[in-house]
This record gives sequence, structure tokens and C-alpha cells, in this order.
Amino acid sequence: MTPASLTQEPQSVSSAVTRNAFFIVATVNEDAASRATVRAWCADVANLVRAVGKRVPAGNLSCVVGFSSDAWDKLFGEPRPAELHPFREFGSGERKAIATPGDLLLHIRADETDLCFELATQLMTRLEGAVTTVDEVHGFRNFDMRAIIGFVDGTENPTGNEAAHFTVIGENEDPDFRGGSYVLVQKYLHDMKGWNALSVEAQEHIIGRTKLDDIELDEAVKPSWSHSALTTLEDDAGNEIKILRDNMPFGRPGSGEFGTYFIGYARSPKPIEQMLENMFVGLPPGNYDRLLDFSRAVTGGLFFVPSQPLLEALAAVDPAVDPAAAPGVETSAADSSETQTEPAAAACADGSLAIGSLKGAPRYE
Ligand code: HEM
Repeated sequence: MTPASLTQEPQSVSSAVTRNAFFIVATVNEDAASRATVRAWCADVANLVRAVGKRVPAGNLSCVVGFSSDAWDKLFGEPRPAELHPFREFGSGERKAIATPGDLLLHIRADETDLCFELATQLMTRLEGAVTTVDEVHGFRNFDMRAIIGFVDGTENPTGNEAAHFTVIGENEDPDFRGGSYVLVQKYLHDMKGWNALSVEAQEHIIGRTKLDDIELDEAVKPSWSHSALTTLEDDAGNEIKILRDNMPFGRPGSGEFGTYFIGYARSPKPIEQMLENMFVGLPPGNYDRLLDFSRAVTGGLFFVPSQPLLEALAAVDPAVDPAAAPGVETSAADSSETQTEPAAAACADGSLAIGSLKGAPRYE
């Protein structure tokens, strides 16, 4: 397999599997000063990860930052990632992948909770007054990589060059945004009483794998409505299309809350959305994922993850030509005095974000 050709170092999308993860989703407050704070913060993220991570060198600390479609427009304007759009909902009624508010996603991973906690504190302190947190989940690794429903989670993930191939935008796909990724998150709550009332065999049919030793069920036995069958995608030539997941269990046993924070990275939102459609609507429609009879999605967001150099370059977008203050974009009362007549612009006068001129990024070919 030839991995995607890259000239821009990705953020730590395919970081080591860690014991802990914090997921923070926030909205950017509706004034020009808040937007300027968020833009400036983009240049601080890598330094903060380095500073905090140095304190426990073996702790595998990393942070991935993503921006929603609305956030991109109000913070950075044009150019914009080709496939970035608001979260698409799938399904209906009780079985629905819902969209919920969120401009910024922080995916903080480390082996120790204190590392995640310290980095989250440092990052959020710098955003104080500029963003409003709408969801925060602290996930933990559960025994041998088991989701809270007792099955090993993450087995079929791509690794190494294959992970880069499936998650990182290549040179010829979206040139201004090469080295970037898309990430989709959903917070699920489980009906553990209902799930635990099933026999192990019934649970195995729902997942499509054995519970104790995590072996894929034989095609002759695996139902077409199993989670594994509905999330396995192939292209027209019969090659498998993968995504990179790093789901984390979370919960509050004292309150009866048991959950899975789903997080999936890919170089396009399309495969993840196809999986959601298969799960929630069914393939064919009606043949839906029975895991959803015991799991309810309570959040949903799609974000673009710029390459590491682009994240830093975004800090240089000129607030004097703040995209959200440009004509045709609604501004709050607080903004109106700052409304500009210039069109939205990016870091460079040529509108290129200057990412082609950044040096030092590795190249995978
Ligand atoms: C309720 C939340 C979820 C739970 C508890 C869950 C759990 C699991 C488990 C236990 C496996 C089997 C082991 C593995 O290969 O990882 C699996 C596989 C997989 N899941 Fe999920 N999952 C959830 C949601 C999702 C969502 C929302 C998607 C995509 C939109 C997804 C995509 C996949 C994929 C692609 C596989 C690998 C399938 C294969 O190649 O066999 N999962 N999941």
C-alpha cells in the first residue's frame, strides 16, 4: 500500500494508544475579541503540549485540535477545507445520529490522567472568556482495550503507514489542506441493564466478534445487521476503506451512566458518514445496527484537523480582516463597531495561508 503523499506534518492523529483521553467540545463566543483569542491560541498549542509533556517523558501526551465548519468560516474564512460541512444527521426517532453544537474539539491523550488534566487546564485557561465548553468527557482505558459493553474495541484499526494513508489528506486531494484530517465524534450512552440481560452469544452476534478472545465471527454466522458487518466498507475494486478510531469508555456508576466516546479520523468525512448511515438507517434500510438498541448517541460533531504547521499558521490570520466581521456575515452587537469592508482573507495576501512555504515537515511517499 502506498500511503498518501504528504508535505505537511499531521497533528498527532495516529498517536500511541493511551490509557486516558479528555474530549472537550466548545463553542467560540460571538465577538471579535474571542475570535482573535482563539486564533492566537492556535500558535500556543504545540508549545503547551511540549512543556507539559516534558514533565513525564514516557507519558505519551498529545493533543489534536479540530474546527467545525461554522467555526472555520467565522475564524478563518477562505480558503476552507473542501469537505468540511456541518455534521450530517442520520436516522430518525429513537435511533438518530444527532448534531449538537461545537466549534472546537480538543482530543487530549496521555497514559496518566494528571497529564491530560494539566494540559487541558493550560489550554482552556488561555481560552478563558473566548469559548464556552458544551461537552467534556474524561475517558479511561478499560482492562484489555474493552469498551464498557465488554468487547475489545479498536482491533481492526489500521496502523503505521496504513493509518496515515486512511487519515491524512494527500498532496493532490486538497492542496491547501494536505496533512490535515477530518474527525467525527459522538457521545453514546448505553443501556447496560438491557445489554447485560442478553446472552453472550446474542451480544457476539450484535458485535460480529467473540467476546472473550475477540475473534471475528465466521461469515456464515455473522448477521448482516452486526456492528462489524455494517461498518466494513469496500471501494468499487473490493479494497477495504478504513477509518482510525480511538473510542474511550467513560461513566459515572453512581449515577447509572455508562458510555462510549466514539472518535473516528479519516481523510474524508465520507467513509465515516457511510458507516453512520449503515448503522442508523441500515443496509438495506431497516437492516440497522442492533448495537443501537442498547446505545443512544447524545452528541455529534464533525471537525477539520489542520496539519501541525497550518494550525500554527492560522494564528497569523489578520484580525483586521476578521472573516466573521466581513460583509454578508452576521455579527453580534459587540462586533458591529469592528465590521470591516474588506473581503475575508487568510494569512497571506494571496489567500494561500502560506502553508506551501513552511519548512521542516516530513514527507511520506
Ligand atoms: C456505541 C458506540 C460504539 C461501540 C461501543 C463500538 C464498539 C466496537 C467494537 C467492540 C468493535 C469490534 C472490534 C474492533 O475492530 O474495533 C468495533 C468495530 C468497528 N467499529 Fe465500532 N463501536 C461504536 C460506534 C461506532 C461508530 C459510530 C462507527 C463509525 C461511524 C464505528 C466503526 C467501527 C469500525 C469501522 C469497526 C471495524 C469493523 C471491522 O473492520 O470489522 N463504531 N466497534
